[in-house]
Amino acid sequence: MGDKFHKPARTGARTTARDEDEILLTPGPVPVPAEVREAAARQVINHRGAAFHRLYESVRSRLLPLFGGGGDPFLFPGSGTGALEAAVVNFFSPGERVAAVVMGEFGHRWASIAETFGLTVERYQVEWGSVPAPAELAAWLDRTGPFAGLLLTYNETSTGAAADLAAVGRLARERRIPLLVDAVSALGGMPLEAERWGVSLVASASQKCLMTPPGLALLWVAPEAWERVEAAALPRAYWDLREARRAGEHRETPYTPALTLWYALEAALERIEAEGLEAVYARHRALATRWREGLRRLGCRLLAGDEAASPTVTAFYPPEGVDAAALLQALRELGVEAAGGQGPLKGRILRVAHMGAVEAEQVDRALGLLQRALERLEQREARG
Ligand SMILES: Cc1ncc(COP(=O)(O)O)c(C=O)c1O
Repeated sequence: MGDKFHKPARTGARTTARDEDEILLTPGPVPVPAEVREAAARQVINHRGAAFHRLYESVRSRLLPLFGGGGDPFLFPGSGTGALEAAVVNFFSPGERVAAVVMGEFGHRWASIAETFGLTVERYQVEWGSVPAPAELAAWLDRTGPFAGLLLTYNETSTGAAADLAAVGRLARERRIPLLVDAVSALGGMPLEAERWGVSLVASASQKCLMTPPGLALLWVAPEAWERVEAAALPRAYWDLREARRAGEHRETPYTPALTLWYALEAALERIEAEGLEAVYARHRALATRWREGLRRLGCRLLAGDEAASPTVTAFYPPEGVDAAALLQALRELGVEAAGGQGPLKGRILRVAHMGAVEAEQVDRALGLLQRALERLEQREARG
């Protein structure tokens, strides 16, 4: 590793000096390693020819282990939100009742998308920063059901809390409720055994743990979920997974694929393969611990408890008396782009990503800059 990915390479006159100095800590997009960027610079090819068929197979076979093995992955030009919409329209029929775990902004978004398509959505609200307790969720499902599906955000990027997906999968399977999972900020950074854990459908995107530029929506379908996908009666055209499956039999996509992003993703997946999935997951966990220890040392309070701590993104309150917006701005002045809070946490917290090709020394450097930003704010305060 050791790629200085936090410093985007000089790419010509169009890049501003400001961009080049930036340390990007936003929870997506995350910095793209050099070889992934270079792969995206290759010439495009005929997407109905042998070279694309090889690329399709290469990406598909390298993606499957990230979902735990079997099933079918599909790529569409789009973002994570598109994948969430695709999941809804490919799985449900008008009027169906759906349960949605809402533990932050993205769970809220998915529930709203389902409502937009006329589904009746019952929200299981979890305090932001926490995750559902499986036994309580199970009791609620029994009380509130029946449901045609359960929507769950595996890793809630707005709070830095990660659900116990294996446990939720178990309880959903026991109740024969199909489980649909938002793994936008989890895929490639957190263990996922979709089929084994009883997941029917997974939605994700390229710009997070897959360290690829934004622009690819990813979907994964369990073998036994195709019956539901075939029967779903909500309107769908562009996102129709039946078309994607038919084209996939010929190692093609129904519509023009985002070829340069496929190249990039292939390079990123090769990088993951070279490191080894277990090592990648262990590194993400270690980075989360490093951030959490460093933040505590600086007097910051963590939003998610240790038991729910996300391996890929950490959300924290500034030290007592420090304004979150002012701290974000002070970081920006030092060339660090972190993210603020969303929804009710707007203006109250900061969020930092540790997904993709991040190494421990980059976390230490970022923590050092955070310390400097806090010192600057303190000096300004002292000067009045
Ligand atoms: C958990 C989660 N779901 C969905 C999304 C939406 O993805 P996009 O911004 O690519 O549409 C994000 C993006 O941050 C996310 O983190």
